[in-house]
Amino acid sequence: MTENLTGNESKIKNLEAVYSGYMAAASSFLSDNDMFTPGFVWGCGDVSSDMVLIGEAPGKDEVETGKPFSGKAGSILNRLLYYTSCERSDLFITNTIKYRLARQRAGSLPSMIPVCENKSLSNRPASSKEILLASSYLKEELLILNPRLIVTLGNTPLRALCAGFFPGEKVKTVGECRGEFVKLPGFKDTYLCPVFHPASLIYNPSNEYIYIEDLKKIGEYLRNMSK
Ligand code: URA
Repeated sequence: MTENLTGNESKIKNLEAVYSGYMAAASSFLSDNDMFTPGFVWGCGDVSSDMVLIGEAPGKDEVETGKPFSGKAGSILNRLLYYTSCERSDLFITNTIKYRLARQRAGSLPSMIPVCENKSLSNRPASSKEILLASSYLKEELLILNPRLIVTLGNTPLRALCAGFFPGEKVKTVGECRGEFVKLPGFKDTYLCPVFHPASLIYNPSNEYIYIEDLKKIGEYLRNMSK
């Protein structure tokens, strides 16, 4: 039987295939490296959106809800989105690493409790190997979504996109290139704009002013694009 899928249905089907491939590769990486059975959280939102946001990795709250940015960082993001004039429901939001970057708290015993219920876990940074592994799947995910603008939140998604789209080039930090629009190879007309991670405002509230400037630029870019 031939399937007659709409554009969005076919995007969803292709995304599911990429997510399964990533889950298999990441699970094997994690078991080889003696880590935890993770709770995976997939990208979520409007697959035909002009804008895709990419975070670092889901935390405890996101593993519980199954949705990216549904905890404290998500509340900050929702408030900041006001400056782009976009509603969250208009966007597609995903993460670079799609499982919780967890580690056992010092002094607690390892256990098989699932990552979402395990109170003895804390968050850890992504390793370079995990970012490299995620980068090829993230690239495929973005090519399927084919948005006009990709906004990376913080350094981890920026590193992954540099590995996927600009291999061999020196990777800039978000502080060095935030608010700049860079054309991405492999797409017809898609730009990358890096901004800080919303959670960085918890530790550096003085960055809020420049963050808002960057988000206003993004809003303006999207409005001019649709003219
Ligand atoms: N929640 C996410 O989904 N991603 C982040 O990067 C941070 C919090």
